[in-house]
Amino acid sequence: MRIPLVDLAAQQAEVHAEVRAGLDEVFATTAFVGGPAVGRFEAAYAAAVGARHCVGVANGTDALELALRAVGVGTGGEVVLPVNTFVATAEAVSRIGAVPVLVDVDPVHLLVDPAAVRAAVGPRTAALVPVHLFGQVAPVEELLKTAADAGVPLVEDAAQAQGARRHGRPAGTLGIAAGTSFYPGKNLGAAGDAGAVTTDDAAVAHRVRALAAHGSTRKYRHDVVGMNSRLDTVQAVVLEAKLRRLAGWNARRRAAAARYADLLRDLPAVRPPVADPANEDVWHLYVVQVPDRDRVLAALHEAGVGAGVHYPVPLHLTGAYRHLGLGPGAFPVAEAAAGRILSLPMHPHLTAAQQERVVEVLRRAVA
Ligand SMILES: Cc1ncc(COP(=O)(O)O)c(C=O)c1O
Repeated sequence: MRIPLVDLAAQQAEVHAEVRAGLDEVFATTAFVGGPAVGRFEAAYAAAVGARHCVGVANGTDALELALRAVGVGTGGEVVLPVNTFVATAEAVSRIGAVPVLVDVDPVHLLVDPAAVRAAVGPRTAALVPVHLFGQVAPVEELLKTAADAGVPLVEDAAQAQGARRHGRPAGTLGIAAGTSFYPGKNLGAAGDAGAVTTDDAAVAHRVRALAAHGSTRKYRHDVVGMNSRLDTVQAVVLEAKLRRLAGWNARRRAAAARYADLLRDLPAVRPPVADPANEDVWHLYVVQVPDRDRVLAALHEAGVGAGVHYPVPLHLTGAYRHLGLGPGAFPVAEAAAGRILSLPMHPHLTAAQQERVVEVLRRAVA
């Protein structure tokens, strides 16, 4: 039995008929850029997240860059973000000519450590970017206080947290703006690259929309130097169909997470993820910690289990960010976790039998 990390084919089968009909319409009308499906999806996603505005863009990295630029981050500004994240969080900052200031994560949830963020704030700080990693919302209350004390905006990286909530409030509405990614494997995934910025602030939404369309809000009038980062109409069709199922799919992920927790109860060598009681997690990834991870990972692959590692190298030790001059030992929590973390198959169509098989293979591998 092969068990994939994510099962995009099963998702596609559920939405096939709707997507087919939507695509036929796009091709019949040739509304490839800015077609009606884009506006419909933006309105539906804003409503689903509970944000006043949603601006669809080309991918999640652009969403973060555009959100940061729209809230005023510019060349030389420092942006504080966790070292344990996908590289795109830092890339978005670097592409502006701003400087990523990396901080360590907390050892329980592997989310950004609020005390480390406070310590990293200085006179050049331009924004804070917590990352809602693995579908868990970062502890924003303390971070919002730090942001307010420093007089800087908080922009969420909500790429892995579509549908997640903290104290009942949706990820994507907790700071002044948020960037999210609809990369195919995300909880809400397109059939290619796509992303969005959500915000309650009309001026921020307006700036994002202009920056993403060549710095223009009227045809051939270019007020600022922008870029081309619009949400493709074809992707909007796919996203509209999948958004209707997102809440149900997230509920299935939660049920699968609860089942893993049960199955792992008598396996002390495997440390399951710890949910923060303030959060309603959406389990984008189910990340356990094991000793001798690389050997365990190889055993899982050998048995046909599509496990992964998110992420094997903390940002400061990547070639891209070596220039920051932070060597091994700079972030002990993230560095220790990077050698132990293991993402088990997690998606809405995972069956109980598949999960039992994953845990059986894991049990043999850690014995
Ligand atoms: C935490 C995080 N931030 C940003 C991104 C960037 O999104 P994209 O790949 O759509 O550019 C991703 C996903 O890839 C992500 O997981």
